[in-house]
Amino acid sequence: MSDFTGAVFKPGLEGVVAFETEIAEPDKAGGSLRYRGVDIEDLIGTVSFGDVWGLLVDGKFGPGLPPAEPFPVPVHSGDIRVDVQSAVAMLAPYWGLRQLLDIDNDQARRDLARVSVTALSFIAQSARGLGLPAVPQKDIDKASTIVERFMRRWRGEPDPRHVKAVDAYFISAAEHGLNASTFTTRIAASVGADVAACISAGIGALSGPLHGGAPSRVLHMIEAVERGGDAEAYVKSVLDRGERLMGFGHRVYRAEDPRARVLRQIARELGAPRYEVAAAVERAALAELRARKPDRVIATNVEFWSAVVLDFAEVPAQMFTPMFTCARVAGWSAHVLEQKKLGRILRPSLRYVGPNPRKPQDVEGWA
Ligand code: ACO
Repeated sequence: MSDFTGAVFKPGLEGVVAFETEIAEPDKAGGSLRYRGVDIEDLIGTVSFGDVWGLLVDGKFGPGLPPAEPFPVPVHSGDIRVDVQSAVAMLAPYWGLRQLLDIDNDQARRDLARVSVTALSFIAQSARGLGLPAVPQKDIDKASTIVERFMRRWRGEPDPRHVKAVDAYFISAAEHGLNASTFTTRIAASVGADVAACISAGIGALSGPLHGGAPSRVLHMIEAVERGGDAEAYVKSVLDRGERLMGFGHRVYRAEDPRARVLRQIARELGAPRYEVAAAVERAALAELRARKPDRVIATNVEFWSAVVLDFAEVPAQMFTPMFTCARVAGWSAHVLEQKKLGRILRPSLRYVGPNPRKPQDVEGWA
């Protein structure tokens, strides 16, 4: 449907192409995901997350992210995702960040790098908890990658296999086209806000259960099957109740989610303790979904194997959304910069369906 301006009404913006991007886009039918043309399956285990930040933002590996800087004031609401969203917003006045409209692209890129790396360090420090003393800087400085720094700041001396698991997860979740949080960061960038405001806005949008708030539910499902011991019975009972199986299906892919494929492989290679039970749930779910929905491809999505990989790295379920935040700062940064270069404000339209023109006297409550 179109109004007099020629604008087309698309509920939820589905099917609307808003930008051309050089960053990434899922290959829906082929079930692959490429960052600036490079398949994530060729990145994981080959380069580290810091290099992927560079690939997404600069289009090349290196020069790497700067060291993290201290935060203005500690924020402790009891929810690390909320804390990092507030703390990141505060970086603008604390560091004197200028608005995107008033700086050049190089300065914007430098600001994005500072904000990204400092958000990671805030999350690692928060994950360590208030009770434990901070890890000495000299021990953090022994790290050779951004993810190892992250894990050292959190754990002190981390298990190298945990570092590998988290690096694979961060790379696989770094970027995924114009999802809700990325769109949010682009809206903030389009009006020329400072980069801390853009990233903070993205963190808020990520928090919803339909976006970054879901993977912990997969872990609860796997734990339930572990207790009950029968994956097929569990899957059937969920579907018989008319509920959805967490970690299956995808709005975009009509093939297996490539991130599920690489993370399954990592979980197997690393010997994740819940690999076998997860694989049993996956087999039972795919067979049952195929039988019940023969006309639709409902395959495993990223959330399913992310949960197993993060569980292996001893990441508690309440840290899943903050971990997603760490990964996605890379994609958000790339999109903020791309939007700045585009320099066009995002302002879609609404179709008004409210009351016809009327007088205040006609409104309920008029004295
Ligand atoms: N379990 C059971 N049935 C499912 C599932 C599932 N996981 N996914 C889709 N279906 C069924 C639906 O019930 C629907 O059946 P119907 O036509 O009889 O009503 C049919 O398949 C099509 O479903 P849609 O809702 O059209 O699928 P859509 O593409 O809109 O939804 C979504 C995708 C939201 C991811 C959905 O598959 C789902 O709810 N999955 C479970 C939650 C989940 O894993 N979320 C994480 C997604 S990954 C990410 O966001 C990073």
